[in-house]
Amino acid sequence: MALRDLYPIPDIDPVWTVPQEFETAFDWRYDEGRKHMMHLYQKGKDMQWDAISRVDWDEELDPDNPMQVPDELSGLYHTPIWQKASEREKAHMRRHFQAWTISQFLQGEQAAMICAAKIVQQVPDLDSKFYASTQVMDEARHVEAYKKLLEKFGIAYPMTKPLQTLVDQALRDSRWDMTYLAMQVVIEGLALAAFGNIRDTSKNKLTQQVNAFVMQDESRHVAFGRLALKDYYPHLTDKERDEREEFLVEACYHMRDRFEQRETYEILGLDVEECVRLQNESGYMKMFRTMLFQRIVPIVRDIGLWSNKIQKAYADMGVLGFADTDQAALVAEDNRRAEELDEEARRARAAYVKGVADAGARVYAAE
Ligand SMILES: [Fe+2]
Ligand SMILES: [Fe+2]
Repeated sequence: MALRDLYPIPDIDPVWTVPQEFETAFDWRYDEGRKHMMHLYQKGKDMQWDAISRVDWDEELDPDNPMQVPDELSGLYHTPIWQKASEREKAHMRRHFQAWTISQFLQGEQAAMICAAKIVQQVPDLDSKFYASTQVMDEARHVEAYKKLLEKFGIAYPMTKPLQTLVDQALRDSRWDMTYLAMQVVIEGLALAAFGNIRDTSKNKLTQQVNAFVMQDESRHVAFGRLALKDYYPHLTDKERDEREEFLVEACYHMRDRFEQRETYEILGLDVEECVRLQNESGYMKMFRTMLFQRIVPIVRDIGLWSNKIQKAYADMGVLGFADTDQAALVAEDNRRAEELDEEARRARAAYVKGVADAGARVYAAE
């Protein structure tokens, strides 16, 4: 199914082109590669999975609440708009809000695929090119998985403008590390937190699976950005480091303050500015926007962009405390959750096969 038919917004551009000017680097040295980078590359190869066979696509979504997530997740939940709505209207809003969220995941995944491909071309070291190549394939599978999930919603939204602005910057910048910083650190970091929120609050098996399986790869992608930049940033001049920090601060504020579901409010015929105002006042949204930085902040510290300016900005955003997050524990939990869902699916399939066999045996015995 083509998603272009599912956009409720008319006249969506069928293609988005971003002009780029950068140097593509070949690496004739063919070094052994850095141990940690080659280890990550090996993991990237070992952990490839197939979106068609690993996910249980027979699982359906609930028409009234597709992902079976609590209503509190909606920024409008505590507002008169939600309270006055009929059950039918609430179901309609849930479908649009959730489809918007999954659409941003989908569009972000395509951006990640394209940014990873740019990294393959630009990054000077072959070991990084190797790893980034596995990421291109990972992101393609993520696009495939979220597209299939969105088909079940029957609604899809285009990439929201603030995300598009950041992706545009990541692609236009001719410095290879800026693509990493925007994509691998900021966007992937935010995405990981958002995927985790859905994975952990959804009661729907299909939604849990897609998000958990994607997350298993994403932790690797964020680790890649961290490794590459940690090696590179100590070699920069103070001025060059300042530029990166300035970009980071702006990008973080931009994503925190501008990432709103404007398009859904418009389609639902609601007062967009009023909805955005109410959404920004919602306690859940404030908590969610803070939580989004859980995965970014420790990486920023790790890669050495940790001046007073950065710390001051993160303190102002109320996210500085995340610097001490135990990343290894988060990654271990991401893996555990994905494997647990694999195991549940295996057991469900075995029980189904046994049920069919038992039924067949009963029919045979009765004859
Ligand atoms: Fe991805
Ligand atoms: Fe990724």
